[in-house]
Amino acid sequence: MLTHAHATLDDTAVTALVADAITAPSMHNAQPWQFAYSRARRTFTLRADPTRAMPLADPTTRALHLGCGAALLNLRAAAAHAGHRTATTLLPDPASPGLLAEVRLDTPDAPHELLNGALSGLYRMLRERRTSRYPFAERRIPDRVRAALAEAAHREGARLAFLTTPHREAVLDLIVHAEGYDRMDDGREAEQRAWTRDTHTSAPTDGVPDYAFGPAGRGAAPMRDFAGRRTVPGRRYAAFERRPQLATLSTTGDGPADWLRAGQALQRVLLLATREGLVGSFATQPLEWPDLRWLVRDPRSGAGHVQMVLRLGYGPQGPRTPRRPVAEVLTITP
Ligand SMILES: Cc1cc2nc3c(=O)[nH]c(=O)nc-3n(C[C@H](O)[C@H](O)[C@H](O)COP(=O)(O)O)c2cc1C
Repeated sequence: MLTHAHATLDDTAVTALVADAITAPSMHNAQPWQFAYSRARRTFTLRADPTRAMPLADPTTRALHLGCGAALLNLRAAAAHAGHRTATTLLPDPASPGLLAEVRLDTPDAPHELLNGALSGLYRMLRERRTSRYPFAERRIPDRVRAALAEAAHREGARLAFLTTPHREAVLDLIVHAEGYDRMDDGREAEQRAWTRDTHTSAPTDGVPDYAFGPAGRGAAPMRDFAGRRTVPGRRYAAFERRPQLATLSTTGDGPADWLRAGQALQRVLLLATREGLVGSFATQPLEWPDLRWLVRDPRSGAGHVQMVLRLGYGPQGPRTPRRPVAEVLTITP
């Protein structure tokens, strides 16, 4: 293992690590990331791709950072799985906010994460995790699993809390309100539509493909309807679970480093959830309206900034969505 870790990392191995990283979820599957690898420094850098931001739904680039954080967690998991020790620095250069993170491999002088930690054990789940916009069963996630998911979030510096019944009802209402706001906002409608893809006429490498929209919901499905005001031919209706199991992911602060931590925590939670046989989807609409975002906050703790609303449960796996080729998102330098 050690010999392998300290050998020069060839370009094929570098490319494989980034291919693993970009299986991450991102808002509207925009994949707003750019990776570089310096052979001399044995260091990956992760940059934001501002051309893939959502100026209307995500003016602060909070969601963009979440997606990049998820890709960063994947990179760490893949590196650990390949036998590397990693040292990760968030926002290493205050003068360039677009430089989101550096991951150094096998540097003896930096503080390392433990090798063979829980992270490399999640590696197998990278390609199993997908967003599922299908109805889930009314089966309760056991407390043991809920606690393990909360622990996974905690390890990455975020707090995962399953919503109690009254708060869940309130959040479901907020999601419906936010969907209504979105629908009345032509700019946001157009922005979201620009990231949906008709796979009958094209073979996309980004965006949300029509086959991943899931069925249209009856009642208050806590689901973003990517079809917007359009009707998708052949799309089915389905009854969603009456008591969706929702959880919020929160951080103490609300700046770029917190968003990157939240993204890593999100992905760690999702990978562990996948290993536990769970599927999940997201409902971030109320987080995209500042006046609604405050109300999503857990009334028990009253503290923290909600970064993500997750729906978890037992149900059908979602379909695989496309990714851009690694060559488009990776530069290797001497
Ligand atoms: C910050 C963020 C916000 C998201 N918001 C939503 C959402 O509100 N509704 C939804 O259905 N999916 C949401 N997603 C999921 C993405 O659409 C999904 O990750 C992407 O299409 C790729 O598909 P995959 O997760 O199956 O790989 C979000 C993802 C991220 C990272």
